[in-house]
Amino acid sequence: MSEFMYCHPSHNHAADYRHIRVTPSTGALGADVDGFDLNRLDAAGFIELRQALLAHKVLFIREQNLSIADLERVTLQFGEFGREPYVTTMADHPHVVHVVKEADEKAPFVFGGAWHSDWTFQERPPAFTLLYGHDIPPYGGDTCYANLALAYEWLSPGMQALLDNLDALHSPERAYGVGANHNALLENMAIHYGRDTSQDLRSHPLVTRHPETGKKVLFINPAYTTGIQGLRTEEAKPLLDYLFNLATAPAFTCRMRWRQGTLAIWDNRSTWHLPIADYHGMRREMFRTTVVGEVPSR
Ligand code: SIN
Repeated sequence: MSEFMYCHPSHNHAADYRHIRVTPSTGALGADVDGFDLNRLDAAGFIELRQALLAHKVLFIREQNLSIADLERVTLQFGEFGREPYVTTMADHPHVVHVVKEADEKAPFVFGGAWHSDWTFQERPPAFTLLYGHDIPPYGGDTCYANLALAYEWLSPGMQALLDNLDALHSPERAYGVGANHNALLENMAIHYGRDTSQDLRSHPLVTRHPETGKKVLFINPAYTTGIQGLRTEEAKPLLDYLFNLATAPAFTCRMRWRQGTLAIWDNRSTWHLPIADYHGMRREMFRTTVVGEVPSR
């Protein structure tokens, strides 16, 4: 990428809704949403919420008071639960992951602490992820998001044509395989790592067609994409590194500040996320679910 980027027009316009109030965050993606109680939202309200989610790609729904059962019920408004591999889910809630870092943990390490989309090595990766902020530090612990449809749109027609016909390889090996010892540093989460993960190696189109918006998306991410089919490592790596670097240009991202009682929902098919590891010594507690998506296709 050149040192100077063209200024892209906003892709994140506000719209008027009847049941919810939506305030865009940046010109790239993201919106704060308020003016309603998720526990009382009716079917028409959930349709608007889904429209807003597809338009803004990540919503931060403010001032919600959700129990775990409420979070499960809200999740099911968006589709069926996804499968959560490599993490132990809550004893009484097999679809809910307790994402917690206690104030007294020894290592300055956080769960999911690299740019990624969730579980892209699955045959049907999540369409949406929901993350409820239950105990939020007074500052720090923000989450950043990147818009992968916008990154694709920015590429030259020649580069788009090259990428359109490629398939990328996705693997949990670096995050959870042999040698993924960083997981031991997460003292209060039960992560399964250290075993052969080759059964989860999967190929998906490098550029997918979003099943709901019809837009093309760069469907790769730094945590799970390990190569490109038919290319040698020394050919694939610089290409992937270029795309990873491009997608995290500030003009393609937003940074969301949590508050207690915020529910984030993101479109996992067209975004990456990165929790910022800057709150060591403070407690942060979240509850997370996913909604299963489609098999990615061009
Ligand atoms: C995750 O990757 O699901 C964690 C995101 C966060 O803690 O902000």
